Amino acid sequence: MSERARYGGRVAHIELRELDDDDLDAIFEMMRDAEAVEMAAFTASDPDDRAAFDAWIARERASTDVALLVVTERGGFAGTAGVFTVDGDREVTFWIARHAWGRGVATAALRLLIAREPIRPLFARTAVHNARSLAVLEHCGFTEVSRTLSYAPGVGRDVEEALLTLVPALDGA
Ligand SMILES: CC(C)(COP(=O)(O)OP(=O)(O)OC[C@H]1O[C@@H](n2cnc3c(N)ncnc32)[C@H](O)[C@@H]1OP(=O)(O)O)[C@@H](O)C(=O)NCCC(=O)NCCS
Repeated sequence: MSERARYGGRVAHIELRELDDDDLDAIFEMMRDAEAVEMAAFTASDPDDRAAFDAWIARERASTDVALLVVTERGGFAGTAGVFTVDGDREVTFWIARHAWGRGVATAALRLLIAREPIRPLFARTAVHNARSLAVLEHCGFTEVSRTLSYAPGVGRDVEEALLTLVPALDGA
């Protein structure tokens, strides 16, 4: 299954695939980009700590509750998208590498993720200041449920976080 993303008037095919060991360096680099960490905020407290990253991603890959996938654009690494369960709620997450920002990759990847994930309801969380992430979620049919202020390790301060849920009528499920 693939989605088409905008790219200078052309389209680029976006796909999700299983993550493998060869992706880990690219994921680590993507998740330590300072601008991206500022946007996401609810990240590792030290994004440069490779040992902590390796331990975290090993736990994610081993967990039966987690499906962490690689997003590809025309076959090349473009980011990650995943679903996981926290306190009984099924949540989506996505992170796109900076070289692929701004041409619809996250929106296309999230559409694919929603289509392959059967569990409903689906939830998502994002820092309220992360306007691009909010736009991606709204494009895919998520609507805001509530906001809370909590400590965001990536930026070392309290950040307002929105909880969103997928509206079934828009989802088509
Ligand atoms: C947020 C992120 C996923 C967006 O990825 P992307 O592939 O660039 O997203 P898309 O191109 O699909 O969509 C971005 C949308 O934000 C809009 N946008 C861009 N800059 C914006 C801004 N400053 N304010 C508001 N909206 C903005 C774009 O116009 C686009 O909407 P459109 O399709 O209506 O034009 C990516 O920047 C990222 O991974 N950031 C770091 C990690 C992160 O924040 N992850 C999400 C955590 S929940």
